[in-house]
Order: sequence, then structure tokens, then C-alpha cells
Amino acid sequence: MQQPEPEPQSFDRVLSSMCTEPHPAAREAAERFLATNPGDPATYETVADLERRAVKGLATLAAHPTPAEAAGYVTSGGTEANVQAVRSARNRHDGSDVNVVAPTSAHFSFTKAAEVLGVELRTVPLDDDYRADPDAVAAAVDEDTALVVGVAGSTEYGRVDPIPELAAIAEEVGARLHVDAAWGGFVLPFTDHAWSFADAAVDTLTIDPHKYGQAPVPAGGLLAREDAALDALAVDTPYLETRSQATLTGTRSGAGVAGAVAAMDALWPDGYREAAERAADDADWLAGELAARGYDVVEPELPLVAAAVPDSTFSALRDAGWKVSRTGTGELRVVCMPHVTRSALRAFFDDLDRIRR
Ligand SMILES: Cc1ncc(COP(=O)(O)O)c(C=O)c1O
Repeated sequence: MQQPEPEPQSFDRVLSSMCTEPHPAAREAAERFLATNPGDPATYETVADLERRAVKGLATLAAHPTPAEAAGYVTSGGTEANVQAVRSARNRHDGSDVNVVAPTSAHFSFTKAAEVLGVELRTVPLDDDYRADPDAVAAAVDEDTALVVGVAGSTEYGRVDPIPELAAIAEEVGARLHVDAAWGGFVLPFTDHAWSFADAAVDTLTIDPHKYGQAPVPAGGLLAREDAALDALAVDTPYLETRSQATLTGTRSGAGVAGAVAAMDALWPDGYREAAERAADDADWLAGELAARGYDVVEPELPLVAAAVPDSTFSALRDAGWKVSRTGTGELRVVCMPHVTRSALRAFFDDLDRIRR
């Protein structure tokens, strides 16, 4: 019997995802480059050129001192970028008993990185407002610390860690600093947060086009201040025309690369600025509406709102088709991605008010 063609989900009721509807030009570019392989740049030269453009674009957003020459590549996502940042720091650090110090708010990809790479992950407590606590980080580092991680747009609460302070702590013990701006990186350029290569001695940085960058999945980004960070990842590739490869994956689709370039061409800077401003307004409005209904709200710093709603309410929202998720301590979290419009949020409140009656 003929099965109906499966359709992907609509974004209408997706409130907790960090991905979004791709920009139409990015979708189209991704489809065109689907069957190319930037993992073999001497064969797939056009997409290899596009990847250099993607890295330049990402480096511009992250205020790299020389975007046109920045080291980096388009990863499969923030996870690969974070794993590779840990790997690069480990490979460049003297000594074998290496550790990585990260706030408890760091994404679980660092747990994967530590396990795969055999390094110790030291997680340290946050301050009262969910940011890395510099005193706790300073107490945790030692001469075996290869990397300190700061998060610029945390997954649960959208917080930006004090990156310059973390960089200074890292420098004192000869460690490197990685900034995870996987989610925040396309919003932060329009804020006054200190998070980028221009703000501190940042060694590597994760910034994902497939989140706020409005590129189709899979398109993450790893950037490095110096070539040495990527050189430390390179392995010999005897049967390819290019001599070495620094990526974690081998063959990878050019869709992510082409989609990222097309999205940035279409949206940087004005389109991203508009999206960031609209998301910030919506997040403030959402926080106000939730507080007006008596919920404890974690005020948004970037466009992500968390609020303590009862389990029964959360379940009823899920039953009504809302794709919402919870923080580790159980708060409802809403990520104001570009597809989360004010009218979607109004429809959400219509259901929430019906559930509360
Ligand atoms: C801050 C942060 N870093 C890394 C990641 C991992 O990204 P990906 O799921 O693209 O691997 C996420 C995912 O939400 C994230 O929020």
C-alpha cells in the first residue's frame, strides 16, 4: 500500500527549539549544494570557496581581528565545534592530565567532549543570576587546565558569562578560553555584551548559523583567533588531494556551508538586527505576561524566557500541541527564535488561560 509522503513539522507551535525556519535563500542554496562534500576541498572546489566565505562571515560577526584570514570551519553543529575546541586546547597543552573548567550552565556537549577526549571536566557553580562565577572558576583552575569555557547565551537561561574576567583567569594559569556562542552569536553583535574576539583574549569560539543565523541544519561554526588552533586538529589525509583535515567529520554535506553563506548574505547585518530586536521585544513582552499571571519568571537577558509553571500546566500545554521544554530544575523555557511571532505567543496565552480556568 502506498504510504502518504511524510511532512516535516510546522514551526507554528515550536517554542523551545534553538533551530528555526531557514531563510528561503538559505534553503534554496542548501538544496543546490546537498551533494557536495567540503570534506574533500580539492574535488569540491566551489563549496570549499563558499566555506571560506562562511568563515569570513562568522568571523565578522564575532569581531575577529582579521575576518578574511580567520581560522575555522562549518561544523555539523555546536556540539562538534565545542568538542573540537576542547580537543584543540588539549592537544596544545603540555602535560597529560589535562582538565577543562566550565560553568554548570555549559552545554552537555562538553560532557561528551570530556568523555571522548579523556579529559577531566570540572564544572563550577553559577552566581545568583545563572552566570559563571569568576571566583568559582578561579578556584577550580590549575596548571593542568587546558581550557576555560565561557557561555555567551546559555541554553537554559540565555545568560552571558563575564567573558573578559574568565579570559584573565585562564591567562593566569596558561589556559585558553573558549566562548560558546552557539546560540547567542547572531544576536550578541546587536547588544553591548562583551563576548567576542574584540572583547577579550578569546582563543576559540562556537557560533552556529543553524540557530539564530537562520540557516538550515547542519551548520555550526568553529572559529579560532590563530591558525595554530586548527593546525592542532589536523590529521594527514593520504588519499585526498589536500594533505590534511582538521574537521571531526570526514565526508559532510555542502548544504550547511551553502545555506550559511546564503543566510548571511541575505541577513547580515540589517536582517539579523531586526530579528534580534524583535526577539528581544517579544521576550520582554512574554516575561511580562507570564509575571502578570503570577509565575516566577527568570528575566530575559537574551531572548529566552524561563518561568516556573506547575507540572500539570506544562503537560496540558504539551497536550495542546505546544512544543515546550523544561530547564533542569523544571521551569518552562521559551526561546524567542525568528519563527516565534507575537501572534504565536498570543495563541499560546489563549491556550494557557484556557488551561488555567
Ligand atoms: C550554548 C549551546 N552550545 C552548544 C549547543 C549544541 O549545538 P548543536 O545541537 O547544534 O550540536 C547548544 C544547543 O542548543 C547550545 O545551546
